[in-house]
Amino acid sequence: MADDPARRAAELRALLHHHAHRYYVLDAPEIPDAEFDRLFQELQAIEASHPDLRTADSPTQRVLGQVLDGLAPVRHAVPMLSIQTETDTTAAGAEAFDQRVRRELELPADAPPVEYSAELKFDGLAINLRYEDGVLVQAATRGDGETGEDVTQNIRTIGQVPLRLRGTAPAVLEVRGEVYMRRDDFERLNESQRARGEKTYVNPRNTAAGAVRQLDPAVTAARPLSFFAYGLGEVQGWDMPATHAGVLDALAALDLPVSAERRVVSGAAGLVAFHDDIEARRDALPFDIDGVVYKVNALDLQRRLGFKTREPRWAVAHKYPAQEQVTLLRDIEVQVGRTGKLTPVAKLEPVFVGGTTVSNATLHNLFELRRKGVRVGDRVIVRRAGDVIPEVVGRLPGERIAYVPNFRMPRACPVCGSAVVREEGGIDHRCSGGLFCPAQRKQALLHFASRRAMDIEGLGDKLVEQLVDGGVVRTLPDLYRLGLANLVALDRMGDKSAANLLQGLAASRQTTLARFLYSLGIRHVGEATAKDLARHFGSLDRLMDASETQLLAVPDVGPVVAHSIRTFFDQPHNREVVEQLRAVGVGWPEHDGAALAAPRPLDGKTFVLTGTLPTLGREEAKALLEAAGAKVAGSVSRKTSYVVAGADAGSKLDKARELGVPILDEDQMRALLDADLGTDRAGQDAGSAAADVGATTASS
Ligand code: IVH
Repeated sequence: MADDPARRAAELRALLHHHAHRYYVLDAPEIPDAEFDRLFQELQAIEASHPDLRTADSPTQRVLGQVLDGLAPVRHAVPMLSIQTETDTTAAGAEAFDQRVRRELELPADAPPVEYSAELKFDGLAINLRYEDGVLVQAATRGDGETGEDVTQNIRTIGQVPLRLRGTAPAVLEVRGEVYMRRDDFERLNESQRARGEKTYVNPRNTAAGAVRQLDPAVTAARPLSFFAYGLGEVQGWDMPATHAGVLDALAALDLPVSAERRVVSGAAGLVAFHDDIEARRDALPFDIDGVVYKVNALDLQRRLGFKTREPRWAVAHKYPAQEQVTLLRDIEVQVGRTGKLTPVAKLEPVFVGGTTVSNATLHNLFELRRKGVRVGDRVIVRRAGDVIPEVVGRLPGERIAYVPNFRMPRACPVCGSAVVREEGGIDHRCSGGLFCPAQRKQALLHFASRRAMDIEGLGDKLVEQLVDGGVVRTLPDLYRLGLANLVALDRMGDKSAANLLQGLAASRQTTLARFLYSLGIRHVGEATAKDLARHFGSLDRLMDASETQLLAVPDVGPVVAHSIRTFFDQPHNREVVEQLRAVGVGWPEHDGAALAAPRPLDGKTFVLTGTLPTLGREEAKALLEAAGAKVAGSVSRKTSYVVAGADAGSKLDKARELGVPILDEDQMRALLDADLGTDRAGQDAGSAAADVGATTASS
């Protein structure tokens, strides 16, 4: 019966489980969010009128927990063990573990290498998920290993945790894994806290752990949490695989998220290679890890090895250098950025953190500095994870020996003396000096010269400093008026480097409109926006004359960006800079923007390039794709249309496979570039009609 509510409810539950898995775990949705919402609401409506049809595994039950007085204790059916840590972060650490395993298994020296499952050590909170007949019935923290806390209703809010396992599930299956927060989710969370002037979180691990132990599940639901499974607890009625790697594969097949960064390796050499490979790519991972974990792969060998009090003998965590360290805050200085923003910067006793020595770290703004309550002389926690700028995340509690005055923002710019202003209701302090301020001028010049802007070879920090401080260069066009005589007059500037710079300047004159726009350093105009603007308007004059309404017609340009562009070109001195740059020979091929509005084969597609292609260089491939209308992105997400993979492709290729993104080789990419636009003639007609209109206003 088509309108049998029980049947429809079951059907909707199955559909929603499927699409939630596509969305949260595989990051590859098959239906738009709105369609998911519609199915969800239909199920909610059925359950509202037939409460008996509401099941524990219904997707509607993720977010409906009660606010609790406290978390109830849960006794673990199988204790949650900890894992021995190898703190020697060199290859010797891995070798020591392999030797220990071989000794304890009493293997003769000539026995073949032991096989291991090598995986990541996620930096979050350990959780036990209990599934009975495939339905999630309980989630608990580790606690002391014997007894944890019941956090079921909080864990239910995590989209990546299946409420029901796929296929035929065992009678009892306890899955162990880590709740964590991705770095980008963490940054975004803090970005929005900062923008609202609210307290920022210290690191992803504490934020994830705090969220899981909330008494109000609505608070947990608002935090972007993720989950990876890595092991088992109690199991009943399951045909257990023979290896740990087999267990992980089986868990993935049951719809549980399992990291793709896992490998079966052989012997100490295999462990070392995995450790080194992950270390080299650690910054590029989307989440924090504090090491890798090695586990003897064969479960019968694990049983033979057994346990030593609270730790298995068959596993070890092999650490990496920590991403947080404590050091002394020596001083707080104020830095002036390209747009005049004043940033308090911590001058630190140098400390080795996240793989490099850090002596400066950002304190973001006055309000965050105050909230963290740091003062000169404090012992502070410095964090450097991924390629994020090092930051001070807090201070160690403790008495201050002497009175230290609280930090204040200067009233005058420390570089040019102009008044420092704070926008009404804003968080940031800014120098009002504009390009009169040497700090802003230096940053503006460095940005102008940078690789993705005008790409002026030979113009670095030191030289810009000398040129600005010596009064030789005041504006961007001044750069192109430099002669050999100006340059060799500078300290430590030989004929050869001077000639190189002049050549670099000459070569940069011929550029593209997109690069030129980006190089001007207009607030909110990054590389992607600059490309969109160049493509849309085709000529600089047309862009400079565009109203805010006309600017809003450009894809991804909203009111803030449109206003910023309009304001920039309304300043006579900015127009002057642009005119002078053109006068000194900076130029680019202009086209009729409207003509390019005709459809191109790859409009709206996003590509990611990885590995070495047989004939095309990276930049060449990128240029070809962009000319055909595509965007080229740096990382794979569910929005990626295609990944083009060449030799030695790495994690991006894995990620593409994980997300089900189509993978092309160079030939297949070329075929797409040549693709006919097919039957979309209407679009082309519209394009050429627009071209006629455009031609009347086109410039030179
Ligand atoms: S296995 C019997 N595998 O590290 C071994 N643990 O003390 C049980 N952790 O907080 C742990 N990543 O949550 C294992 N791939 C991984 C892990 C992992 C992170 C955490 C675990 C616990 C600690 C082990």
